Amino acid sequence: MGTPALFSPLTVRGLTLKNRIVLSPMCQYQAEEGHITDWHVAHHGHFSMTGLGLAFVEASGVTRNGRITYGCTGIWDDSHIAGMKKIVDMYHARGTMCGIQIGHAGRRASCERPWQGAGSIERDDGPEAAWQIIGPSAIPEREGYPVPHVLTKSEIADLVTAFEDAARRSLKAGFDVIEVHGAHGYLLHSFFSPISNQRTDEYGGSRQARMRLPLEVASAVRAICPDDMPVFYRASCVDGLQGGLVIEDAVALARELKTVGIDVLDCSSGGMAGPATLSKNRITPGYMVPYAETIRRDAGIATMAVGAIIHARQAEDIIASGKADLIAIAREMMADANWPYHAAQALGVDNPHAVLPEQYAFYLERRAAVLDRNA
Ligand SMILES: Cc1cc2nc3c(=O)[nH]c(=O)nc-3n(C[C@H](O)[C@H](O)[C@H](O)COP(=O)(O)O)c2cc1C
Repeated sequence: MGTPALFSPLTVRGLTLKNRIVLSPMCQYQAEEGHITDWHVAHHGHFSMTGLGLAFVEASGVTRNGRITYGCTGIWDDSHIAGMKKIVDMYHARGTMCGIQIGHAGRRASCERPWQGAGSIERDDGPEAAWQIIGPSAIPEREGYPVPHVLTKSEIADLVTAFEDAARRSLKAGFDVIEVHGAHGYLLHSFFSPISNQRTDEYGGSRQARMRLPLEVASAVRAICPDDMPVFYRASCVDGLQGGLVIEDAVALARELKTVGIDVLDCSSGGMAGPATLSKNRITPGYMVPYAETIRRDAGIATMAVGAIIHARQAEDIIASGKADLIAIAREMMADANWPYHAAQALGVDNPHAVLPEQYAFYLERRAAVLDRNA
């Protein structure tokens, strides 16, 4: 049979991905001063052997204070480049392309790690004391949370520069793709959403004004990257809250992002208040795929679908029916790191073993032949 759509290559600008399966960015909370540790080497080393088309390194702070937690990775200093390069090299050795998500946590910075409660840090001294959070307006994420410092225009300009510098470092580390984190309530999302942005200057008010900072950052990162390198943008396509962003806002943003040279819109949701993804009881398989489908159709930009993509047939349908160009998986890759291999088997790929590195494929292919013969 022919190659399933999920296993067909995709070329974006000068980059060809061998299939449409992407490891979604996943914070590990194991970094030290933003530097990767053995945990990240093991985590990505593990996934580098699974046959992914593209893998993302977690949200990495463009400034020290832009981290979500003390355990988050960073790309705010040249000393972060070597560790990141190690991860990139592991993926490249196995034919998987590697991206980094760069971001600033904005008013959702200075938090505890998830297993410490994920709330705002309350300590005001000691090695892991709370730090000043920032945002478009003096509106806390929720009642009882700290009020963000309202960014001045010159501080906004400094942040755009921080994104540019982070992009330059990402290039030095050898990443194939940079994804700007514009989702989940973090800084860029907080400027776009009317819930958190009540500014009266040119960065607030109308939808066009609220997207000014996201577009400035996207343009700045695009300008740093070579022409043949794709730049992705992760957006929260809806806030899921009264008075918040709706899908029409995301379509409008996607159109503008396309104009400034963003290649793929990574379609997530939520984060304006509470957990990053929309309320847990609304999560069903593929619950965010309609956002990727609508944006792809109405904004004419390539999309990446994410969110409870679990089954091979489900993923195949998303790609084959043109709902998205890529599918990203986070938690299911934790549950089944050999997801691409199992998907290749389920979809009848001619030699599914070849999805895995030769060191494994050699034995699995022979074992399958022997078992078939003796069946
Ligand atoms: C442990 C963990 C860490 C995450 N870290 C990030 C992150 O760094 N950046 C981001 O945009 N999303 C992050 N997410 C969200 C995932 O990328 C993904 O969008 C979400 O989990 C839905 O996909 P899934 O149903 O396949 O897990 C994280 C999710 C998990 C479970």
